[in-house]
Amino acid sequence: MLGIIGGSGLYGLENFKLKEKVSLNTPFGRPSSDVAILECEGVELAFISRHGEGHSYPPHLVPYRANLWALREVGVDRVLAVSAVGAINRTLRPGDYVLVDGFIEFTKRREFTYYEGRLSKKVEGDDKVAELINSGAVVHLDMTTPYCPQMKGVMAAVMEGMGRRYFSAGIYACTEGPRFETPAEIKMLETLGADVVGMTGYPEVALARELTMCYVSLCVVANPAAGISGYRLTSDEVIELMGKKTEEIGKIIVRFVEALPSERGCECGNVLEGAKVGK
Ligand code: HPA
Repeated sequence: MLGIIGGSGLYGLENFKLKEKVSLNTPFGRPSSDVAILECEGVELAFISRHGEGHSYPPHLVPYRANLWALREVGVDRVLAVSAVGAINRTLRPGDYVLVDGFIEFTKRREFTYYEGRLSKKVEGDDKVAELINSGAVVHLDMTTPYCPQMKGVMAAVMEGMGRRYFSAGIYACTEGPRFETPAEIKMLETLGADVVGMTGYPEVALARELTMCYVSLCVVANPAAGISGYRLTSDEVIELMGKKTEEIGKIIVRFVEALPSERGCECGNVLEGAKVGK
C-alpha cells in the first residue's frame, strides 16, 4: 500500500474518501497522528500527518520511528513524503517542486535507526526486518539510492503531464531546527552541493529504507534559504505558500496514485540483503 506523509501545511487529504482512522501504539512510541486509510480512484492508501494535529510536533521531536512503524503496521510498503523546503540553489523559485535524489544531514538528537544491536527494541512480525531487529543484529544499510527510482520516475512523469515546474534531481540538506539556518550555514551547505534545505527529511528516508519501503520525497520550495533573499524568514511564509499549494498537491497525489504501477519495479525491497554484520 502507498503511504503519504504530509508535512507543513498538509495535514490531511480532504478530497479523498476516509475509510478508517487507525489509532496505533508502536514499540517506538505513539505516532504523531492517527493513520487515515483513504480511498482514491478505487485504490486504498494511508495518510499520516508528520507534525500531528495542530502542527504540534516540531521537526526535531517528530516521532519518526513510530510514524514509519505505524505505516508498516497498516501495510504500507511505499511512501510518498511531502515536505516544504528552503531553496539554496539560485535557479529554484517558491512553488517549484524538487524530486531529490540525495541527502546530507546535520541532525543532532533524533532516534534515527531501528537497528540498535543488542539494545534493539522487541517488535512483532515474521519478516526479515523483525528478525534482524529482534535478533539484535548489527546492520549497515546501503544508501547509494536513498530515494526510490521508480517512484521518482512516476512522479516526474506526473509533473511533466501537469505542466508543473519541477526538478528531477537535487540534494536535500537536513538541519536540526527548529530554528532556521544562518546565512553562513546556508553558504556552507551550498558549498557542499545542497540544493534545498529542510528539517524533516532525515531520518525519515533512512527509516523507510530500513523497513525495506520505497520512499520518494516531493519537496515544495517555500522560500529562498536564509541570506539568499535578503529578508528574514518566517513560518508564516512557509505555511502560506504550502496553503496555496494544498489543492495542487492533492491533484498531484491523485495522478500519482493513478500512474504508479501496482508492482514494485525497483531494488528498494532487497536492501537488507548483505546488510547484517556476520551470518
Ligand atoms: N530551512 C529549513 N527548513 C525549511 C525552510 C528553510 O529555509 N523552508 C521550509 N522548511
